[in-house]
Amino acid sequence: MKVYITRPIPETGIELLKREGLEVFMNPEDRVLAREELLENVKGMDAVITLLTDKVDAVFFEAAGPQLKVVANYAVGYDNIDVAEATRRRIVVTNTPGVLTETTADLAWALIMAVARRIVEAHNYAATGEWKGWGPLQFLGVDVYGKTLGIVGAGRIGQAVARRAMGFEMKVIYYDKVRLPSELEKKLNMEFCPLEELLRRADIISLHSPLTPETYHMIDEKAISMMKPTAIIINTARGPVIDEEALIRALREKRIWGAGLDVFEKEPYIPEELRKLTNVVILPHIGSASHETRNAMSELAARNVVAVLKGHTPPTPVNPEVLQQGGD
Ligand code: GLV
Ligand code: GLV
Repeated sequence: MKVYITRPIPETGIELLKREGLEVFMNPEDRVLAREELLENVKGMDAVITLLTDKVDAVFFEAAGPQLKVVANYAVGYDNIDVAEATRRRIVVTNTPGVLTETTADLAWALIMAVARRIVEAHNYAATGEWKGWGPLQFLGVDVYGKTLGIVGAGRIGQAVARRAMGFEMKVIYYDKVRLPSELEKKLNMEFCPLEELLRRADIISLHSPLTPETYHMIDEKAISMMKPTAIIINTARGPVIDEEALIRALREKRIWGAGLDVFEKEPYIPEELRKLTNVVILPHIGSASHETRNAMSELAARNVVAVLKGHTPPTPVNPEVLQQGGD
């Protein structure tokens, strides 16, 4: 059976697919395929490993053909995939949750520290060679320890970010549409509160919600206006969860302290003004980008493919209802 991979991923998963006797085809170039290339290359495949930069919809499924059984997204987020359409066609969709949780939480923390302590701005200054000596008023930031951390979206990653806050003796408040079990709230020292209250109380707000019609522009002008003037907002989830234009205005007018962004509304486009502001730290969507985690994601995507093609239950299906429908 044939598997297509839309862009080179770590060898771990590719080797696993080959060991299982699958025929592996891959875009050999390290670039996003143009839409026409993608549609052409998936023709006749039984499985496709896709990336968050690949749009997977009815046209994609038509182009692949009726033998397609599984689309394994190499990401935890799957807003690039029309899952309802896949389910209608009885195509299994899988993602890579769990293996990237801690790595992404680490990156959210890297952004928190970088924004609070102006690390990038200070580095850039030091790197120019212009530094004339220690100064009592140089690069004053804001403290992180002991502050209130607001987690929006308390899934695995949100919880992992909260867990790290214990070492900083922070108060952690969270909002999610579903409340966590009370034992878990206790264990993680997380207090539930409505979103508006969180926006008003938090010193640092970190977003960990998937992108859905409900979370699109969840952080808009009105939400930003509720934040403290010293608030820091961190986004390692999906760009469109924030109204980027509203955020840029707030940063420009210094209505909040700063922002740390790993994701953007129209990736890879980052508005010039956002790139020029000194109260932001911007990263090119590297939340899960560690050697260990990308190897683990590759292997998990491959295990999902192998399981579906062998008629077994894959480790991390997004639409498990397809599996329960039984044979034709
Ligand atoms: C990356 O953004 C992912 O969803 O895994
Ligand atoms: C991702 O693994 C999440 O559920 O936050």
